[in-house]
Amino acid sequence: MTTDANLVSSVRTEADIQIAGVTQRFGSLLALDTVDLRISAGEFVSVLGPSGCGKSTLMRAVAGLVPPTAGTIHIGADLVRKPHPDVGIVFQKATLLPWRNVRDNITLQLEMRNLPAARFEKRLRQLITLTGLEGFESALPHQLSGGMQQRVALCRALIHDPKIMLMDEPFGALDAMTRETMNLELQRVWLESRKTVMFITHSISEAVFLSDRIVVMSKRPGKIATIIDVDLPRPRSFSMVGEPAFIEATIRIRECFDALGMTE
Ligand SMILES: Nc1ncnc2c1ncn2[C@@H]1O[C@H](COP(=O)(O)OP(=O)(O)OP(=O)(O)O)[C@@H](O)[C@H]1O
Ligand SMILES: [Mg+2]
Repeated sequence: MTTDANLVSSVRTEADIQIAGVTQRFGSLLALDTVDLRISAGEFVSVLGPSGCGKSTLMRAVAGLVPPTAGTIHIGADLVRKPHPDVGIVFQKATLLPWRNVRDNITLQLEMRNLPAARFEKRLRQLITLTGLEGFESALPHQLSGGMQQRVALCRALIHDPKIMLMDEPFGALDAMTRETMNLELQRVWLESRKTVMFITHSISEAVFLSDRIVVMSKRPGKIATIIDVDLPRPRSFSMVGEPAFIEATIRIRECFDALGMTE
């Protein structure tokens, strides 16, 4: 069963993601089963689901790193077959090169894409300021905290100004305080740039705090169980956790987890 590609093509914009009938098998293991999802340009969508349900697999397919067994993924009008130039990726670990300083870890992205560093100097400065890394440009990764390393990874994913960001549990390894700070920083970056974001997380509160919509996936084989709209104004603050809309979204996700026999 696939979504009618002609039907959706008429409403494509440059920076949206269209996942149509995506199935992923690894040998006899069915990791993803007929996933359909459309993320609009400028939308922030989180994906929540139990370990092993196929979240990273879905993200890798969107990133063009692993071709799906069946179904199609489009970024704008482009059928994804390989990594797309308009996509930036942040992985769970910062994966910085230990011998390169902050600045050179960020500009690695440009080198890999054969983009002239001089053209991106102003943007580099802006990103370093935006993420509070000023004064650490020459520091090596081991001289940084975990949160700072993730901020470098965020800058590296943003330096070439991709229209789309794919983030796979980027703050999963951070302590709760640093994680909240990173959520606020990510919100700030997103509000300034309005990129299309697909954000994978295990944290319900992180998903509610950041997202326009939250996709809940069921256990393997991964399917979309439900999609929840988060109706909270922006910019959001963590003091909103007590507000009815925040509580309602949290309860709906928990109810969905319960109904699916999942725990957070
Ligand atoms: N390259 C691969 N080869 C074989 N099996 C794979 C491969 N990648 C993923 N899988 C399997 O696909 C399933 C989904 O894995 P995936 O990494 O997408 O889960 P996930 O939802 O991201 O889990 P987690 O929350 O733990 O990160 C798992 O059962 C995993 O073992
Ligand atoms: Mg994963």
